[in-house]
Amino acid sequence: MRFKDPRQLIDGILKKSVLKKLRKNRIHVPRGAKKLLMEIVSVSKKIEEKGLPERFVLRKLKGKLGHGIFLHPDAKPILKGEVIAPYAGEVALVPQDSESDSDYIFGLITGLVLTKEEQRLFDPTRSYRPRRRYSLDLDGEKRGNFTRFINHSTKPNIEAELLQIPANSLGLETGPCEIIYVARKKILPGQQLLVCYEGKDKSYWGALKIKPFFMTPNTFQLNRKLRVISV
Ligand SMILES: C[S@@+](CC[C@H](N)C(=O)[O-])C[C@H]1O[C@@H](n2cnc3c(N)ncnc32)[C@H](O)[C@@H]1O
Repeated sequence: MRFKDPRQLIDGILKKSVLKKLRKNRIHVPRGAKKLLMEIVSVSKKIEEKGLPERFVLRKLKGKLGHGIFLHPDAKPILKGEVIAPYAGEVALVPQDSESDSDYIFGLITGLVLTKEEQRLFDPTRSYRPRRRYSLDLDGEKRGNFTRFINHSTKPNIEAELLQIPANSLGLETGPCEIIYVARKKILPGQQLLVCYEGKDKSYWGALKIKPFFMTPNTFQLNRKLRVISV
């Protein structure tokens, strides 16, 4: 697998600015607990080594659904609360109303106001507009890891948690706000991993002008021959 970034990619200057903005606007991002940080360390090593941790399988689904990620039929069940992996990709500040062709974007934080100096630094091609609002986006289209292949469901078995990675003794780099995929219920061998893409703003499918296909973790399953079957 060519997607082998264990964590999101954020420039050092942007990281500092985001931290400052979160403090100034009193935006609270919960801190990841020690157990969760240890699980991130463990999965990060696997992603760096192989791309896809061995308990997961990437398979093509029917039609336009593209690929999906399954728990290997011989793997142990994943328990509620276990870390799947950080959602990785490139982090950038973009004007909130700008359109993108990428199907792999998460809006980490919206409604940010930038100073003239910050607009010059992070949005150099546009002229300064004091009232323009920005979104801190995480885009897994060109860079990222296997989590970019996790499909959408309104009955998901995974949830996306926005967390801060605090200073730690585990060798994990700190991060002001990251998306960590965590099991929201027990995931059984052979089931597909699914997450709900829509937040409160319902912006994902509306922007694509597609009606998503309804599926649950059991709609497609992986059999012992690692073939996708419809149940
Ligand atoms: C983040 S990608 C997921 C991985 C994708 N299947 C792939 O092969 O790259 C999101 C895209 O997958 C497809 N997709 C994911 N879940 C879907 C669903 N429930 N119904 C229809 N298309 C879906 C859509 O094309 C969507 O824009």
